[in-house]
Amino acid sequence: MLKAQRAVAGSRIIGLGHYQPERVLTNAELASMVDTSDEWIRTRTGIVERHIARDDETVADMATAAARAAIADAGLEPDEVGLIVVASTSVMDHSPNVAGRVAAALGMTSPVIIDVNTACSGFEHGIAMADAAIRAGQVEKAVVIGSEKLSAITDWTDRTTCVLTADGAGAFVLEAAATDAEIGVGPTVWGSEPTMSRAVIVEDETGNKFSQDGRMILRWAMSKASGITRDAVEQAGLTMDDIQVFVPHQANLRIIEPLAEQLGLTDRTVVTDVQVSGNTSAASIPLGLSKWWHEGRIPANAPTLLFGFGGGFAYASQVVLTPNREP
Ligand code: ACO
Repeated sequence: MLKAQRAVAGSRIIGLGHYQPERVLTNAELASMVDTSDEWIRTRTGIVERHIARDDETVADMATAAARAAIADAGLEPDEVGLIVVASTSVMDHSPNVAGRVAAALGMTSPVIIDVNTACSGFEHGIAMADAAIRAGQVEKAVVIGSEKLSAITDWTDRTTCVLTADGAGAFVLEAAATDAEIGVGPTVWGSEPTMSRAVIVEDETGNKFSQDGRMILRWAMSKASGITRDAVEQAGLTMDDIQVFVPHQANLRIIEPLAEQLGLTDRTVVTDVQVSGNTSAASIPLGLSKWWHEGRIPANAPTLLFGFGGGFAYASQVVLTPNREP
């Protein structure tokens, strides 16, 4: 008979951090590069501007900056964290993985290092994995990071995609919750739609460029997203009335706003960062929530519904509580 590891009640979020490159690319600049207009981009997506990384700035650099900020926000030293999970779909160098590069950059001693690639829902997959590792008693503290350099996998002559994509990173620190009353991460509702596996594509054969069937994804989101998110709320033992903050994947305001309406959440805090950050895939949810948290726009200990969807075609949703303190 094998010995199982001791289990703990659950996990909770104790720190949030983010990083965006300095360079801001406006719609007006894009209109001078491809046949588009500020008006088309604003009305079809909500995006006004986005941040683009320097040529020498990598997914790992941005992941490290976001992790450093989240660990400091949690009041910890990097070496107190036992697990690093990085979600990204724009990694060019696969080994060492991004988590390993973050561990080295932060001077850590022996953390577990895992990369996840489920594109835009990668961060929520990462939260599920870190929560499971903590609940199983394998680590006490974890940092989960979403980091993307989509500018490196964008065809800057393709107006249908280059107006959407952007760069950035966000991170949460999780720690073990000793009692049921302290649990701050609910069960994850996750899965995929294999019939839509080619709805979002980044692959070498086509020169490593990003493409998607935007219409198909819009239709999917409008028909399937509310069921998945309602399930996540129910599995957390809550009702939609309890949800104070909603953070969906920041792809398009034309998905975020109708979805908030479908769920009856328009009078709550709906994080909409896509206007000033563009679509940063796996980074979009932690980036948006961390920015609003540090700006004082998110209450402490607030039931917060996360919902990621995209490449794979994969999705994941869970309810988390924001840290139980002021930012
Ligand atoms: N500027 C001007 N015209 C444009 C542009 C542009 N940048 N891009 C496309 N058009 C034109 C098209 O050529 C088309 O012209 P036509 O009617 O003459 O053929 C017209 O605008 C409409 O194009 P559609 O693709 O039908 O536009 P739509 O309203 O669907 O908007 C968009 C496109 C923004 C991609 C939208 O479908 C969308 O956001 N879908 C969801 C994507 C998503 O959520 N992805 C998440 C997962 S992937 C990820 O996040 C990395």
